[in-house]
Amino acid sequence: MAVTAVVGAQWGDEGKGRVVDYLAQDARWVIRYQGGDNAGHTVVNEHGTFRLHIVPSGIFNPETRCLVGAGTVVNPDTLLEEIDALQKAGVSTENLYVDRRAHIIFPYHRILDDLRESARGEGAIGTTKRGIGPAYAHKAARIGIRMGDLLNEEWLKGRLEQALTSVNRELSTYGHPQIPLGEIMEKVHFWRKQMGHRVVDPVPMLKAAIGEEEPVLLEGQLGVMRDLDWGEYPFVTSSNPVGGYGPVGVGFPSWRLSEIWGVAKAYTTAVGAGPFPAELTDESGDILRARGNEYGATTGRPRRTGWFDAVAIKYAAWTGGLTDIVITKLDVLDAFPEIKVAVAYRLPDGSVTREMPDTWMLEHVEPVWESHPGWETDTSDARRWEDLPLNAREYIRRLEDLSGVPIVYVSVGPERGQIVPARER
Ligand code: GDP
Ligand code: IMO
Ligand code: MG
Repeated sequence: MAVTAVVGAQWGDEGKGRVVDYLAQDARWVIRYQGGDNAGHTVVNEHGTFRLHIVPSGIFNPETRCLVGAGTVVNPDTLLEEIDALQKAGVSTENLYVDRRAHIIFPYHRILDDLRESARGEGAIGTTKRGIGPAYAHKAARIGIRMGDLLNEEWLKGRLEQALTSVNRELSTYGHPQIPLGEIMEKVHFWRKQMGHRVVDPVPMLKAAIGEEEPVLLEGQLGVMRDLDWGEYPFVTSSNPVGGYGPVGVGFPSWRLSEIWGVAKAYTTAVGAGPFPAELTDESGDILRARGNEYGATTGRPRRTGWFDAVAIKYAAWTGGLTDIVITKLDVLDAFPEIKVAVAYRLPDGSVTREMPDTWMLEHVEPVWESHPGWETDTSDARRWEDLPLNAREYIRRLEDLSGVPIVYVSVGPERGQIVPARER
């Protein structure tokens, strides 16, 4: 495994949590490197069903150290809630750390997310309203507060005064009540008491772990199509889900990253606004939503559904640097007599492309469909490649050809063990 990143290769919710939970059984470290509690990573294992928002999905392995890395934005309130829920389920959180460099999401970031989204009107992004965009914007504007700042009262107070001047100026333009410093200071005192001991500088520990070639997993949030630089801007998140950001968001030499595993559903889903070329608005889309239980793990919103998009996966394979692919939710396709794949996009002028067009053009493309016979057989009990019906195997091999990246595993259910190595034994 060495250092492996597990990243979303589509529009998010591909099953990253489920794949990380599976691989974490052999990992010494699992690290979130970007994003915040906009993530909803579902894990189903012997401890129960969990929707993790910020805690890395390796938390169920007591041998694994879990780190919320420098490139993330952390809402201490939701982190504490998650820790509490895990402990109540009998899961140890002793090995959970937060990099002192991670930025804090304050309640005012959520307020600003809400106000800015409403102000966008028809152009709304459909954010999770978790304060992600405003927190990263403050980071870039250098008025963010970091987890390590919690540990020095005087420094923190000065930093917060500066941040609140800017926040309150913006709030007044919306006619929103001002936020007093005292209110925020009360919160930070509580956070320091509850989680100050988890705030660390992980660099020396990771230097040792990576130097000794211990297995380390990086857990991505969202997917390439919502990457701040490589996704369908502006309908993106405010950080970089691409695997290449892993070493930046954790803090180790990029040449130490040995593998990037892209997770992709056997079809596609998206939540939020923006182009989604392979979208189905007919009965097939409804069947995918019902069979795949496609409702947001963070917001509960119904997910948009569509057939597999090979243009997007090929683009994700390159920009996301994928070395391997895991296909999830194959079982959701079990009911379909015919399955389609978007192999190219037709542009409004009639020409056909397999490259990713810019956002304004992506709105107007029509998918070029390729049709595959379904298998109409329950695959959820398959555990070996040979257990899968021939048509399902041929479908997977075709997705491999189209993406240009080896498919290493196929998952056929949400539980940890419902996974098939994509090769004959
Ligand atoms: P993530 O954000 O990438 O971790 O994905 P989510 O947890 O948001 O969404 C994936 C959903 O699909 C969750 O409800 C999982 O329990 C479920 N899931 C994952 N893999 C499979 C699979 O192979 N089959 C089925 N039926 N469900 C799966
Ligand atoms: P996981 O990690 C699916 C989407 C939102 C919106 C856009 C920006 O579970 O795959 P943000 O709140 O980040 O500013 O919203 O990104 N989005 C997600 N969609 N899964 C997620 O996380 C998402 N996190 C954000 O719907 O379109
Ligand atoms: Mg999710």
